[in-house]
Parts: sequence; C-alpha cells; structure tokens
Amino acid sequence: MVVPQPATRPENPRFSSGPCAKPPTFTVDALRNAALGRSHRAAIGKEKLKAAIDGTREILGVPDDYRIAIVPASDTGAFEMAMWNLLGERPVEMAAWESFGAGWVTDVVKQLRLEAKVYTADYGQIVDMTTLNYDNDVCFTWNGTTSGVRMPNGDAIPPGRDGLTLCDATSAAFAMELPWDRLDVTTFSWQKVLGGEAAHGMLILSPRAVERLENYSPPWPLPKIFRLTKGGKLIEGIFRGETINTPSMLALEDYLFALDWAKSVGGLAGLAERANANLAVIEDFVKTREWIDFLAIDATTRSQTSVCLKFTDPRILDGASFAKAVSRRLDTEGIAFDIGSYRDAPPGLRIWCGGTVESSDIAALIPWIEWAFLIEIEAQQAAA
Ligand SMILES: Cc1ncc(COP(=O)(O)O)c(C=O)c1O
Repeated sequence: MVVPQPATRPENPRFSSGPCAKPPTFTVDALRNAALGRSHRAAIGKEKLKAAIDGTREILGVPDDYRIAIVPASDTGAFEMAMWNLLGERPVEMAAWESFGAGWVTDVVKQLRLEAKVYTADYGQIVDMTTLNYDNDVCFTWNGTTSGVRMPNGDAIPPGRDGLTLCDATSAAFAMELPWDRLDVTTFSWQKVLGGEAAHGMLILSPRAVERLENYSPPWPLPKIFRLTKGGKLIEGIFRGETINTPSMLALEDYLFALDWAKSVGGLAGLAERANANLAVIEDFVKTREWIDFLAIDATTRSQTSVCLKFTDPRILDGASFAKAVSRRLDTEGIAFDIGSYRDAPPGLRIWCGGTVESSDIAALIPWIEWAFLIEIEAQQAAA
C-alpha cells in the first residue's frame, strides 16, 4: 500500500525542545540595534541589561522584592550557582522525575556530597510533592523537559516553610503560571520558551533566599563565576544588570526582541494560551488514535511545552529503532527537526509546544506523524 503524503507542510519545521523555535516574527534584522563592540558596562549596555531584567519581571509577574540576575552558563549555570551558594545549611530533599532533575540529584549527592533525601518517579510519573519536608531545602524541576511531566500547580509547597525551594523552571517560565510565594530560587535559560539564544541564564531569588546568602557561607570554595556576595552582603549590582562577567550583547538583543514579542502576544497569559492551544491539537490527535499516547500518565501533569509521546502499537518490534526511524523520516522530509525523544528518556517523540510555535504548524505536523508511522509499520512488516 502506498501511503500518500499529506498535502500541507508545517511552515516552520522547528519543534526542538531547546534551543526552541524563535518567535514567528523573528528575522536577523531584529538584532540590528545590538550594542555590538560596546562595553556592557557602558550606559547603553547597562540600559539593555536592565531592560532584560525589568522585562522579565513584568512578563513573569515576579514580585518587586524578588531579585533577578542575568548569569553565565544558561540554566545550568543559574541552577548550579543557586545550589552551590545556598545548600548545606540544612538537610536537602531532592525530587526528580526525569533526566534533568536526576542531574541535580547527582550534583548534590556526588559533588556537594550533601546528605539528601531523594524522591524519584519513573518517566511519565511525578513525585508526590506533598510528601516532602519543606522545612528542609527542596530542589526540583517544574517541567521535566525529557518526560513531558510538569508540576500541576504549587499547592503542595507550603507558603510558610523554613527551608528554601530551588526550582529549575527552564521549560516552564513563559508558558505556565509560577507561584512566586512558593519559590525561593527560580532559574531558566533564554534558549527555551522564548526561543532566545543559549549562554545566559536567569536567576530569580526570593527575599528569604537573599537572607540565606547573606547569613550562610558554604564550607566549599566558590569560583568567581558563582559568587553572589562580598563580605557577607549581596552584590546588588548583579541584580541590576552588572553581570559577573561579560555577557553576549547579541544574545541580549535577541532576548529583548523576544520579550517584546511576548508582550505583543499578551504576555504570560498570551504565551500560556498559545502553548495550551498547541497541546490541545496534539490531545485531539492522541485521543483518536490507538497507536500513540502521552508519556505523562496523569493529564493534570501533562506538559504544554515539551510534549512527549510514545508509540503503543503492539505490532512494533523494537520501540527505540521504530521511534528513531519515524523522527528521522520527518527530519529528512524537512517536516520536523529534532523531535526524537531525549537520549535518556523512553523511546518516542517530543514535540515542543511553547508559545513560539504556531498552532497551524502543529496541526500541519500531525498528519505527517501518522504518515511516517504508517510507512515505518509497513517497512517493518516488509523486513520481517
Ligand atoms: C529542565 C532543564 N534543566 C536544565 C536544562 C539545561 O539547560 P541549559 O542547557 O540551558 O543550561 C534543560 C535543557 O534542556 C532543561 O530542560
């Protein structure tokens, strides 16, 4: 049987979960006002860095008394910086339900060598966050990018707690509501939901996190790139855009453009609506097909950014090679780039649905997934 190709192709085949698709209105011309060849400490550089912090605060609704910094090394840099500065003062609880959360567990247990209570759940599931002790410090990832499982809300975290919560929100920020009163440290990277460039991360600190920084010094050495205090006081300049080291003025301009675009689509509410609409297209598809399902078992934890799917057809002989063949075929056709599941995750597809992706492109992609699936089933049968 010849499987006919669908008539419509996605206009933009970029469905990667990071770096993510740039805003639909992006062209390289958007960067023409970048302060290239200028010092980031000159007025123009400082102004732009401050605008990035202010724009982030405005769109994400970060409270006025929370500090926001632009830091090196993307989300990883921001989250490592938080853990290395803040942890060790009290016992730690680590929650992980996919690869990135598991990476933070490794750092805390094997590098910082802290005694930690570790809570894990398999891919597709989530840790019961009500069972953690929030008088200890708690580290977790809001949206598990490699499993497509996210926190349904922050209700499990008590607003009155003695410990700090450290939240890796890199694939959540700008797509879902983050309850600031439940989060003491929040990190994300520019390359994720707004489709920015890599290299820089954002570190958002609650007043209690700042208090910890000013009253606790970890027993291990901190490299300059991680240092947020001097003489027991917060280095306030870092939170006004006086970055620890030199930032990329090109990436900065790109982030400013993305923030402007985000505002133009209605800010956080608009971005969340776009992501939700994208997920809804995939939900409609999955509902009507026997051979594909979400990796996330509970619909209330289903991510609307990193949407992870698994093939469930009993005819499939080797799940990993089947899923790879489907994503390779879509890539070769120029229909969808980078939608194979993450290397440590169960085999399947991962389709980025954050706000920079157009619903019409997700809708155009769907018939192509079915097309590639049917062709690979046939190929498998022919080879048998
Ligand atoms: C949940 C999560 N944490 C951390 C990272 C690492 O981000 P970066 O490479 O920007 O440091 C990623 C990247 O995909 C992620 O999804």
